[in-house]
Formats: sequence, structure tokens, C-alpha cells
Amino acid sequence: MNFKVVLLTLVLATFAISCTKVVEEVNVYSGRHYASDEALFAQFTEETGIKVNLIKADSDQLLGRLEIEGEKSPADLFITPDVSRLSRASSLGLLARLPENDWLMNVPPMYRDRNGFWTGLTMRARVIVYAPERIDSSLISTYEALAGDKLKGRLIMRSIQSQYNQSLLASLIVHEGESAAGDWISGVVSNFAREPQGNDRDQMKAIASGIADVSVVNTYYLGQMLHSANEEERRVAASLSLLFPNQHDRGTHVNASGAGVLRNAPNSKNALRLLEFLLSKSSQEYLSNSNFEYPVNPDAQMAELLRQWGVFREDTIDLNQLNARLDQALMIARSGGWK
Ligand code: FE2
Repeated sequence: MNFKVVLLTLVLATFAISCTKVVEEVNVYSGRHYASDEALFAQFTEETGIKVNLIKADSDQLLGRLEIEGEKSPADLFITPDVSRLSRASSLGLLARLPENDWLMNVPPMYRDRNGFWTGLTMRARVIVYAPERIDSSLISTYEALAGDKLKGRLIMRSIQSQYNQSLLASLIVHEGESAAGDWISGVVSNFAREPQGNDRDQMKAIASGIADVSVVNTYYLGQMLHSANEEERRVAASLSLLFPNQHDRGTHVNASGAGVLRNAPNSKNALRLLEFLLSKSSQEYLSNSNFEYPVNPDAQMAELLRQWGVFREDTIDLNQLNARLDQALMIARSGGWK
């Protein structure tokens, strides 16, 4: 073989390789908008060579998009800040059943879909926050107490449009019944210091500025504000106290963010690899340390701040049961005047 032939052969071989080389990728639709998630995606790419293409939007917008795209959707993994939206995706037939791998079965059953279509990724407690110098904690030791007479004009809540509040109300319906939940809403609404507005952080800012004395928020928002780069946020968070409600009965309501693989996922194998990676001990500890969420992998250690807040009794009701009550919760809340 002369030199020219060798060269040509080499060029052709290289061309053939580059033509057959497929870029491994995974397309993620996510309603979780945290820097921690993107850092984990980058680490996943570094470890596996699989590129993560991320589309971020509100969970309901992403659900709408998935429905419109139908079978042609490029989405592989759907991540939401509340598993209620995964439950909806599942009932719309959008999700594939997950394999019963060890890494999935390691997640406690209460944080997983009982039909196997989604799993929780992180857990959060929906706690009471209050201004300790203005209100005695014995007045607010349960969610039920928030509807009491002594809190007239002292309570604020974000809108019932919030998935977190819908889940909380669904837990009241399951535990106490529809009529008691209706009475609770009347009491809570009559205690409002202002119309529901803003997000969880805004409720804490309003308490710090004296608009109200007490509200309900997810734990990680308090953790993030305590560690915020913004001095004002740190001041607000430090001025508040946290209380885990219902410690002497059913426990504090918890919610979970989660993920599911799409039924028509073009890269379902990669989606499963990413899901396994996100549920690994190290990813779970990273999420807890950077975002102040509770791990759903029992082998992972929670962040120091969460350990300081202490062990609490959690309401162990199956999240599947709550998801089935969300529409009912929304209806009761609206008819009771909680917008
Ligand atoms: Fe959130």
C-alpha cells in the first residue's frame, strides 16, 4: 500500500467513525428552578458523557406542553417541585412505569407512586413560621389552631393556587373529613391580615415587616433565606421562628418534589440513568446541603441546618392519597373564599 492509499483509508475510517458517532443526550423538562439541579446535571454529563438539555418552566405549563407535543415530544424526564403534577401527568397517560430497581425501591414507599410511574426526589416539611416576640408558640402548635379566634388579622397565607397549599388542605380533608376542612378554611380566611398574595418567601418578609404574625411555608425557603447572599433576606429569616405543627397527633404535613420518565421518551435509558444519579447518596446530600431539602434516599445525611431544626414527627400519609384529593381541596377552598 502506498502512502496515498494509507492516507485515504485513514481519512475514510475517521469519516465513518464521525458519521456513526451518536451524541448521547437526555431532555429534561423541569419545574424545579434551582442552581443545585443544574450543578448536578453538569456533574452527570461529566461522569457519563450524556448531555442534559434542560427546559425550565412552571409545572402546569410543562404539562400543557407535553400534552400538545404528544408522541412527538422530545422530553425524556419530567421533574416537578410537587409530585401532585406528576400524578396528573400519570393520569393523562404521559408517564412510563419505572423499573423496580434497587435504587428506586430504596425510596420509602410513601414518597413513590403506588403504581410505579413517578418517584419523589426530595422531601420538605410545610411548617409554621412566626414572629416569636409577638405570638406565643402554644397558640399555634397545630394547623387547626390557625383557624382559631385568637389569630384574627394575624395570619397570612399564599394563594390556594399553590400546589403546596393544595396538598396541605388535601391532608386535612383526608384526616378530618370534608366538612371539618371547610370549617377550617372559614376560620383561616377570617383570620387573614391581607388577601393571599406572593410566594412562601413573601409571607416571611411580610411577618418580619409586621403585616402579620404567623404563616405556613416550606422548610427549604427558610433555609435558603438564612443562607442567602442578600443581607435583608438573612435578617428576615433570622427574625422568625419555625415550628413543626401537630407533633402530638398526626405529625407535620410534608410534600415532595419528584420525577417521572415520559412514555414516549426518545432517550429513556439515559433518563433512568439520570434519575438513578439524582437519587444517589451523594446527589441527595448535595441537594440537602445546597437547597435545604430533606433527602428521600435514607442512606443520605441531611444538611446540618436541618439536623439543628431537629427530628420531627411527619405525617406519614401516602402522597398518592393526597394527590387524589387536590381538585376537591381547590373547590372547597375557593367556595370558602381562599383565592
Ligand atoms: Fe418551591
